[in-house]
Formats: sequence, structure tokens, C-alpha cells
Amino acid sequence: MNKTIFLIFLVAQLVHFVAGWNKLPYWSTKETPFPNVRRVNKTWSYRSAKANGNVTLKDPYFWLEEPIDTPEVKQFIDSELSLTEKYMAKCKNYNAISQSIRDVYDYDEYGKIYYGSLRNRSSFYTYTLRLANENLRTFYIASPEEIEAAKQNNFAKPPGKKFLSESLLSENGTATIKQFAYSDTGLFVYYVVETDAYVGTWYVRTLDSVLTSETTKKIVPGGDGRMSDVIPSCDGGFSWNNVTSGFFYSQINDPRTSNTTDVGSKIRFHKIGTPYEKDITIVQPDTDAGNYWSVDTSDDGKWLVVWGYSSADSHAVAYATCLADQELSEKMKWFSVSPSNDYMHDSVGILDDYWYFKIDKDAIDHKVVKVKLDASKARQVSKLRDLTDRLPMIEVIPTRRNSDLYFTSPIAKNKAAFVYTEKGQYVVYIFELSTGKQLQKLQTGQDGNLNGVYSTGFGSDVLILKYSTTVSPFTFHRIKIDQSDKVTQDTLLITKVKNSNPEDYITEALSATSADGTKVPYFIIYNKKQKKRTGTLPCWLHFYGFYGFLENLNWEEKIASWLFNYEGVVAFAGVRGGGDNGQEWHLAGARNNRQKTWDDIIAVAQEMVKQKICAPDKVIAHGSSGGGLAATVAAQKAPVNTFGAILADSAPVDWLSLTRSFAGSFQISEFGDPYNSTDFDQIISWDPYLNVNPKKPMPPILLTTGGTDDIVSASNTFKFLALIQYSYPNSTNPLLMQFLSQTGHNTLTNNVDIGVNLAAHQHCFLQLALGIQRRN
Ligand SMILES: *[C@@H]1O[C@H](CO)[C@@H](O)[C@H](O)[C@H]1NC(C)=O
Ligand SMILES: *[C@@H]1O[C@H](CO)[C@@H](O)[C@H](O)[C@H]1NC(C)=O
Ligand SMILES: *[C@@H]1O[C@H](CO)[C@@H](O)[C@H](O)[C@H]1NC(C)=O
Ligand SMILES: *[C@@H]1O[C@H](CO)[C@@H](O)[C@H](O)[C@H]1NC(C)=O
Ligand SMILES: *[C@@H]1O[C@H](CO)[C@@H](O)[C@H](O)[C@H]1NC(C)=O
Ligand SMILES: *[C@@H]1O[C@H](CO)[C@@H](O)[C@H](O)[C@H]1NC(C)=O
Ligand SMILES: *[C@@H]1O[C@H](CO)[C@@H](O)[C@H](O)[C@H]1NC(C)=O
Ligand SMILES: *[C@@H]1O[C@H](CO)[C@@H](O)[C@H](O)[C@H]1NC(C)=O
Repeated sequence: MNKTIFLIFLVAQLVHFVAGWNKLPYWSTKETPFPNVRRVNKTWSYRSAKANGNVTLKDPYFWLEEPIDTPEVKQFIDSELSLTEKYMAKCKNYNAISQSIRDVYDYDEYGKIYYGSLRNRSSFYTYTLRLANENLRTFYIASPEEIEAAKQNNFAKPPGKKFLSESLLSENGTATIKQFAYSDTGLFVYYVVETDAYVGTWYVRTLDSVLTSETTKKIVPGGDGRMSDVIPSCDGGFSWNNVTSGFFYSQINDPRTSNTTDVGSKIRFHKIGTPYEKDITIVQPDTDAGNYWSVDTSDDGKWLVVWGYSSADSHAVAYATCLADQELSEKMKWFSVSPSNDYMHDSVGILDDYWYFKIDKDAIDHKVVKVKLDASKARQVSKLRDLTDRLPMIEVIPTRRNSDLYFTSPIAKNKAAFVYTEKGQYVVYIFELSTGKQLQKLQTGQDGNLNGVYSTGFGSDVLILKYSTTVSPFTFHRIKIDQSDKVTQDTLLITKVKNSNPEDYITEALSATSADGTKVPYFIIYNKKQKKRTGTLPCWLHFYGFYGFLENLNWEEKIASWLFNYEGVVAFAGVRGGGDNGQEWHLAGARNNRQKTWDDIIAVAQEMVKQKICAPDKVIAHGSSGGGLAATVAAQKAPVNTFGAILADSAPVDWLSLTRSFAGSFQISEFGDPYNSTDFDQIISWDPYLNVNPKKPMPPILLTTGGTDDIVSASNTFKFLALIQYSYPNSTNPLLMQFLSQTGHNTLTNNVDIGVNLAAHQHCFLQLALGIQRRN
């Protein structure tokens, strides 16, 4: 053996030994052996550019992809959960932890506050409210006067009256409302999902048909007293059309009629009061393109625009039709706006025969253009793809460098709120669309995250913004735009958590240097009173790193509660793949650049230790969904002991299996296409299930998954866990999972009981794995 290599080898062994010796022996596979899980000989074959031919991959736990109620899968879950509980039993203060997390949930959670004005009804507000220690939300309607009065005492009592309670949608409390809309005739159209699923059902009621515990007689799907309209298998795409008293919606295609798992969707029209079976399919499913369709209509009811994309980069084909000069049917005359999906599209709104949309043509950080809608070229075709015209685009709002135009929302006749990413945070501007003029940049005076932008459309002159910080839940700002375009802003409501003092915490923006020399931004937040930079504190490092999103400085009960109860630092890493410095930053970590995401996470972890912000061996890597994947990959790629513990929530840790599921090919722009031989080579360089190295120990890991997750199925966690337990039979680190049978992908912590259970398990896990103590 070469001497230098030998030395490195020896030093690595020594570091590991010392670190191992320092650690309390919290896990012993002698005492608590991992379950014996059946292995199968399943393999997959993929084309590899590197191998210049096919590569065979083993999938020894393939059978764990079977439905979770299959007896053998159930048995696997039971034995894993009993192992997890054995470990948690060592956590003597579980109840105290659980109570302090519950305390952090103990606030009345106002959400989705909208101001609306309908054609034949005076203006009103609606909002949702989840009372402290309740799991489900109630919808309220209130007059502007009632809202002003409530504002005076910070909403101590909910203003207005209840009109809908989620608790009355199902016997077992598993149904929730994921989206809703008002028609301008006073109808409330709402989209109900079971156990946090992605696919759900639209129902309709009038705003006057209340459903509260005082009024209900029986529990029926969609709630008592609703109208007869029921539209199943939808994915939330929606646009009301007042001319025809109905709405356009997107519906997931029947998987039985598709040969790919990526079933795509179609656009249909539902006329209020008619049976769903009579709904007209306006845009037929496009099976070979696997498109998912979105829809928008103009307020004057004249135009219908649709855009379809098959990938998360939103690169879409776009078409329009004029509703004014033809009947709704399956054979309408259409014209193309963008006949091929070379650019992303997202509708901003339709005004005076112009469609305004967001696009990335020659503008990586997006710009807004408009096209003149003109039905003179419209014709009837058997497939929309037969249309090939491209409408000339007129630039309205130019792109900004390193600041992505992330989201838009129409307001006040001809304006829109524009959400940009700026230095790791979301910032909101008001623009006039017709002129492209910037009216105002909105200030909140706090470092934090934007959690909601609520406008009912061009018809409304009020916009509500919902912000949070790591140490304080939601604050609502109200933006009003008057007749002379003057923009004013006030604070409507500040939510506070009992026994916490947001002023005790400070936020700092720092940076670390990644493997390729790039400066990676990160934020830290900590209690002013605690010892600074002693190199002894644990750090909860949260990140995401996909799709150009930001999760920095966000409110999350389990993170806040940890910060309130432990001496420690919470950090948010703005790793590449996320949107901290705009789309360039996103793409620098997407697809075949994925390695940068992992490198950046590792760089921030190492820098925080070097700066003595964190103790070596006490950096916790945490992420949800893609972030959970990133935490796991970073643990596999980093030098041993870079991380003290890994918390991976809803993580696609068997990524190749995801590509075989319902929205699999949708992820290609972000992760690569496994059926492309060069992409394949980079995917297998990080897919956690394919990168378990028995020679390098795995840090303590707690994977969390939900039984009704239809985006990242629980089998990801099951299979990866079975494989690491098999590969490290003598692990001195706990390798465990927490399984929540009634939980889906997006809102792991929306249900308070589930959120408390999950967070308490994670806090206990960290306490045991890192040997840390609560403040008192
Ligand atoms: C898998 O294949 C190997 C050799 O090809 C064989 O020894 C083993 O018994 C097989 N295992 C199962 C579970 O079929
Ligand atoms: C090689 O992999 C491709 C892609 O998965 C597959 O379609 C093909 O059947 C494989 N070829 C062989 C010889 O296994
Ligand atoms: C809850 O009830 C709904 C029907 O309202 C049913 O579809 C679902 O399976 C039930 N879930 C549980 C956990 O009982
Ligand atoms: C509003 O108008 C619609 C018809 O356009 C009618 O059905 C509805 O009852 C009206 N609502 C109220 C509150 O007057
Ligand atoms: C539809 O609504 C718009 C504005 O909300 C209104 O100007 C228009 O007259 C309405 N159309 C019909 C047919 O009611
Ligand atoms: C499946 O794919 C084949 C070949 O592309 C096509 O001919 C067939 O119509 C498709 N079937 C369905 C149900 O989409
Ligand atoms: C494979 O993916 C790369 C990008 O990762 C792309 O440049 C290339 O064109 C793709 N190859 C095929 C055959 O699609
Ligand atoms: C684990 O420990 C057992 C018994 O102490 C030993 O026989 C086995 O070789 C060990 N396995 C590994 C992978 O180290």
C-alpha cells in the first residue's frame, strides 16, 4: 500500500474510533437486531453511456412496493415500528418533549384570507381557521367592518360567521379542502382530498348553504347541504366561467387508458347542476405527450387558454379558443400560441384580448410577455398538436438577473403581484400589466419566508400576503390599491406562540465555499443569550435544493420547538438546485449538475463546524421530499462524521422507483431521465438505494413516511431502510423509520396530532443520537 494512502486510511480510522468512543452506546444490534427482511432476485436493465451498453441493477426489496395493506408489507411495517418504539423508549422525557411541541402548535392558525367582491353581493372576506389544538379547519365569511373590528384586537375572537367545517366532510376526519374558488354568482367550489392525497374531488355549494356543527344532520362526502355536483379524479386545475355558469377543470386521465405511468390530464367543462357524466372534454388526453393541462379564462368570459406540460420545468404547449363565437364542445376551433414545448408558460392573466404570461425565452429568470389573442386563425383539428402557428410575443416586463420571477397573481383591474426570489428570500412587487410599470416593492421589515399570496383576481383591489419567520408563525399583510393606483399596506394579523419571544433570536446571513469554489449562502438563527461560537452546540441544518424553491427561514413547528427548547442553532442552506440566486442557481444544481447540491450541503455543514457555530459530529441534516433525498445523499457522500444525524421526511430515496410512478417523468428536468444513457449514469451516482456502501458507516438516520403519499410512495423509505439495515447488521447507529399511515406528501405536519407525534419522535431521536439535553 502506498504510504500516503495508508496514512489517510489510518487517520480516518482513528477519527472514527475517537468519535465512536465519545458517543454513548445508544444502539446495539445485539440488544435490538434489525428485522430480517426477505430479499428477492428482481433486477432492472438500463442503458449506460459509461458502460457502453446495458447495466443490470439489483432491486432486492422490490416486493416492498406492494400495497401497504398486503400482509407481508404490514408485517414489515409493524416490526420496524416496534424497533423504533424500543429506541424511543430510552427517551425518558418523551411526554415533556411532546407537550412542548404541542405548545408550539397552540395558536389559532388563520390561513388563506381572501377579500372578494362578487357581482351581486357586497364585498366580503373569507378565511380559514384551525383553532389551537384542533386538527381541521373551519371556513369563515366576514364583512369588511367585522374584519376592521377584529384587527383592532389582533383577531382575539374570529370575526364573521362559519360557513364550512372540514370536520363535517368525513366521519374519520381524513377529508380536507385543498383548494377552493368562488364564482361571481356566489358559489363556493371546493376540492376535497382524502388523507392528504394529491388527486381529489370538486364539490359545489352556495356561500349561503352553511355546513357547521350547528347545521349538519348527516355526514356525506363533500359535506351535507351541498349541491349535487361531484367531479372526481381531479388535480386542482380550475377556472370559473361566468358566461356559461360552469367551470373548466383538469382531470387526471384514467390509468387504464394509458400505457405509461405518467397518465397526464385533460381539460373538461362542468355546467353547474348537470350530471358530471355529461361534462364535455374540451382538451382530449394527449397520451403520447403525457401532458398535464392548466387552464385560465378571461373575466369577460371571452377567452379560454390552456397550456400543457409533461415536465416540472413547465415547458409547455399553449393554445387558445374564443368562447364568444362558438358553443362549448369537444370539437371547438382552436389556435396555437406556442405549438411546441420549448419555453415555460404560466398564465398571469387575460386582459383586453391580450394573454399575459410568464416565460423563460431568452430570460432564464423569466419575464412577462403578452400575445394578442385573435380567433381568425382558429380551426378545428383532431389533435391540438396539428396546430403550428406561433403568436408573436411582446415583452411587457423584462427579466432581472439572479432574481427569478417565481409567482404572479392578478389584482386591481390591470395589475399583478409579482413574487421574485432575491438573495434567498421571496420579495413582492406590484406591477401594472398594461404598461409594465412597477408601482411598488412591498416591505415586511423581517427576514423570513412568504407562505401565501391571496387575491381573488383582477376584480379585487385587495391582496393579502402571509409571511412567517423561523421563530414566529404567520403574519398577514394587507395591500390595497386605490383608484389612482396608490398602493398602501397594513398589518392585518400577527400570530403569536405562547411562551416564546421572537425578539430573543437573531438571524445572520453567511456563506461557505463549496467544492468548486462557489460561495454558498446560508442563514443561521439562534438565541441571543446562548454561548456563541464555542464549537459545542448542535445545529439543525435544513435545506431543499430543487425546482428553484426557497425554504429559508420558514416557520415549521418542529424546528421552532427545537430552537426554543435546546441550546442550539438552526441553519438554512441555500444550496444549488434551489432558487437563492435565481434560476442560474437552480440549474447549476439540476439534472446532471446534481453533485453541486450535495457538495453545497456538505460545504455548509463543514463551514459551520470550522466557524465553531456547531460541534463536530452534531450537525443534523434535515429535509423534506427532495430535501430528504438530499440529506440522505449528503450523508452517503460526506466524510464519515460530517453529520451527527439525518432526518429525511417523505424522501424519494429509491429514486428509480419514482420514475415508474404516477408523476415520474414529470421529474426529469430536475433529476434526469433514467432512460437516457448519460442521465442514467449520473442518477446512479447518487440514488441512495443504489449507493449503500457497507464499508462506510451510515450516521443515525430517521426516515419518515406517510402511508397515503401518492407522490413519493412509502415504499421508498421501506426499501432503503431494509437495505441499510441489511448492509450494516452491526451498526452502532440507529437506522430507523417513523411511519404515519394516514399522511400524504405535501403537508406532513398539517394535522396537529400527526405533527406532534412526528416531531416528538424526531426530537427524541436527536436527543439520543447526539446526546443532547433540553434546556430545562
Ligand atoms: C437468487 O439467485 C441466486 C443465484 O442466482 C440464488 O442462489 C438465490 O437462491 C436466489 N434467491 C432467491 C430468493 O430466489
Ligand atoms: C437495456 O435497457 C433498456 C432501457 O431500460 C431496455 O429497454 C432494454 O430492453 C435493455 N436491453 C437489454 C438487452 O436488456
Ligand atoms: C375515512 O373515511 C373515508 C370515507 O369518508 C374512507 O374513504 C377512508 O378510507 C377512511 N379512512 C380511515 C382511516 O378509516
Ligand atoms: C346572484 O346572481 C345569481 C344569478 O346570476 C343568482 O342565482 C344568485 O341567487 C344571486 N345571489 C344573490 C345573493 O343575490
Ligand atoms: C362576467 O363577469 C365580468 C366581470 O366579472 C362582467 O363584466 C361580465 O359582464 C360577466 N359576464 C356575464 C355574461 O355575466
Ligand atoms: C400504447 O402505445 C402504443 C404505441 O405507442 C399505441 O399504439 C397505443 O394506442 C397505446 N395505447 C394506449 C391505451 O394509449
Ligand atoms: C440525454 O440527456 C442529455 C441531457 O442530460 C441531453 O443533452 C441529450 O440530448 C439526451 N439524449 C437523448 C437521446 O435524449
Ligand atoms: C456482525 O457481527 C457478527 C457477530 O458479532 C459477525 O459475525 C459479523 O461478521 C458482523 N458483520 C459485519 C458485516 O461486520
